[in-house]
Amino acid sequence: MKALTLHAPGDLRFEEVGEPRLAEATDAIVQVELGALCGSDLHVFHGRERGLDPGTVLGHEFLGEVLEVGAGVERFRRGDRVVSPFSTSCGACPPCRAGLTARCERGQLFGWVEGGRGLQGAQAERVRVPLADSTLVEVPAGMDLEPALLCGDVLSTGLFCAESAEVGPGRVAAVVGCGPVGLMAIVSARELGASRVLAVDSVPERLALAARFGAEPVDRGAEDPLERILDETAGRGADCALEAVGTPASMELAFSVLRPGGTLAAVGVHTAEHLPFSPAAAYDRNLTLRTGRCPARSLMERALAIVSAGSAPIADIVSHRLPLEEGPRAYELFDRRLEGCTKVLFAPRPTARGSGSPRSAGPR
Ligand SMILES: NC(=O)c1ccc[n+]([C@@H]2O[C@H](COP(=O)([O-])OP(=O)(O)OC[C@H]3O[C@@H](n4cnc5c(N)ncnc54)[C@H](O)[C@@H]3O)[C@@H](O)[C@H]2O)c1
Ligand SMILES: [Zn+2]
Ligand SMILES: [Zn+2]
Repeated sequence: MKALTLHAPGDLRFEEVGEPRLAEATDAIVQVELGALCGSDLHVFHGRERGLDPGTVLGHEFLGEVLEVGAGVERFRRGDRVVSPFSTSCGACPPCRAGLTARCERGQLFGWVEGGRGLQGAQAERVRVPLADSTLVEVPAGMDLEPALLCGDVLSTGLFCAESAEVGPGRVAAVVGCGPVGLMAIVSARELGASRVLAVDSVPERLALAARFGAEPVDRGAEDPLERILDETAGRGADCALEAVGTPASMELAFSVLRPGGTLAAVGVHTAEHLPFSPAAAYDRNLTLRTGRCPARSLMERALAIVSAGSAPIADIVSHRLPLEEGPRAYELFDRRLEGCTKVLFAPRPTARGSGSPRSAGPR
């Protein structure tokens, strides 16, 4: 089958790879109908996150049809339409039972193979899903596929960010970064009842989407976002800061805009060695800080309910729908935010299973 693989930072290829096979009784094989490109893929693409084996299939957002299940899979069968969270989880270990499925003791991240171990990604025609019963979620009948797909990562992550930041009725939320994750954090903050959402970015299309989802856009290219947010809050600062970028600058801004006793939730994947504010500054602000990988599996039913309720047209974030073979161009468009690129979906053109040279190079 064909997939997008990463061989070195910047060296992304559309190529023939090994066909995924059932390895354990609890596995399923899913035919990918829709995949996506996430901001997290850019970290490995640029080498900010390292460790992937050359030739790893990238991608962790997907929706598709179950093609085959192992003998131990009970909840799904061939033909079911499913959406996956971006990591697998067992549903039974202590982190899973606590709702922290992202830290499942048996969990794996799609698109991360290191030292020969791990899971191939979903920017591919087909993908192997371990722990299928406790990982996959059925797509509700009649739901549009694009918003359903977005529940597996960005909407769940936005919801995780908004809840972690303790957004609630009457609260003022500041969202730093209006990429897909920040935009879904805005949608979630509105769902949770925020009285105001101030959203910072500099990309015009993204700020326009922020406004469409109910935020007050703050263009950091045209004004000082800290000054603006302090002005808007009578000098006090926001109650909740939702960081959705992953850089020291975004983290510092999220900290600075917060009122004393406020809560900062950082879902950007950070690769800096240290926080950009000191323990003393955090103390002086009585800061609560939450961060980490989103436990998407435990939030997906709620994300799907947000989609069903239809209060926000979340699939409006999708700017590009491309076949997998345009993967290298898609990464370039999304990375450099060209042509209004906000979110790319991939629709693989399926070839018959096992087609292509059986001796072809690529990950197994
Ligand atoms: N915690 C999780 O589980 C999880 C899940 C998904 C994505 N992520 C991470 O979330 C982050 C965002 O993902 P995305 O897909 O939206 O990425 P993205 O790169 O499309 O979006 C980032 C946005 O932030 C803006 N930005 C950059 N610097 C800024 C600053 N200093 N202030 C304000 N805005 C700034 C950019 O213009 C861009 O629109 C990434 O780091 C990604 O890895 C984390
Ligand atoms: Zn992601
Ligand atoms: Zn578990």
